[in-house]
Amino acid sequence: MTDRRAHLGAVQETLLIPLYGRAVETRKDQAVLRDAKAEEMVASIDYDFARFDNLPSLIGTVLRTALFDDWVRAFLSDNPYGTVVEIGTGLNTRFERADNGRARWFDLDLPDVIELRRKFFRDTSRRTMISGSVADVSWTGTVTAHGDGPYFFSAEAVLPFLDASDVRQVIARIAERFPGSLLALDTAGPEIIDSQDRHDALGKVQARMRWACGDPAEIVGWVPGGRLLATHTLTGLPRAMFDRLPAEYQGMLTVLAEQRMPQVEQYRLNLVRLP
Ligand SMILES: C[S@@+](CC[C@H](N)C(=O)[O-])C[C@H]1O[C@@H](n2cnc3c(N)ncnc32)[C@H](O)[C@@H]1O
Repeated sequence: MTDRRAHLGAVQETLLIPLYGRAVETRKDQAVLRDAKAEEMVASIDYDFARFDNLPSLIGTVLRTALFDDWVRAFLSDNPYGTVVEIGTGLNTRFERADNGRARWFDLDLPDVIELRRKFFRDTSRRTMISGSVADVSWTGTVTAHGDGPYFFSAEAVLPFLDASDVRQVIARIAERFPGSLLALDTAGPEIIDSQDRHDALGKVQARMRWACGDPAEIVGWVPGGRLLATHTLTGLPRAMFDRLPAEYQGMLTVLAEQRMPQVEQYRLNLVRLP
């Protein structure tokens, strides 16, 4: 890579937070996940990653990614030839962790992100990058033209950055074009949206979340017949996942759960079955 700087817009820059989270995690003795490619990308990109050092949110991003990984693996176990669409993929490496050798995979993000992503990843017969906004309609045509259902849509740390009306339209469109599909998404409640200038990681970048969602059940209200299959806070992760976390993380999450901080309790990881 000749130009090592990442030329990214404000919301796009946020991809560097979970990227760094996975790279830092990889260096730990006891890690939730290992991601050598994230380490390689962090080393290749000229950016002040040190501003995120020691932030609690980095661990949060890793736990979120691990849960989304579990949901995608479960989907591919039930549907080995299914299609996974990463919405707002950033420099995500879920394919490297969860691919089963048979799935069809799409990675969608804004043009400057896909340009950066192309420096590290290549399209293959089963894996395609799509440049565009999730709020535009055209990406759905690319997916239906090349990928057979059933479909899993993974929108990790993306939709809260959109306006509520756009989120609603995006989810309604996915439900209409891909009936019966699964959608994993995170939601941030109003107190998180109101206090994000003081958020440990977001406070260090320009982008701000816009969609406040106090109750993920709202989402299924937008798509009659949809079902909220799972909703978890980081302090209320699925038992099986919690049990395999390093002891240090289990202790930290137990203490955090007792504190019942709105910034933690209002952040939810959700799995929705669209109608
Ligand atoms: C916090 S990052 C998360 C990246 C990735 N999902 C991960 O977990 O590593 C947010 C991502 O959403 C993308 N994004 C924001 N608005 C978008 C839009 N309208 N369409 C597609 N992607 C978008 C950003 O470019 C960025 O890559």
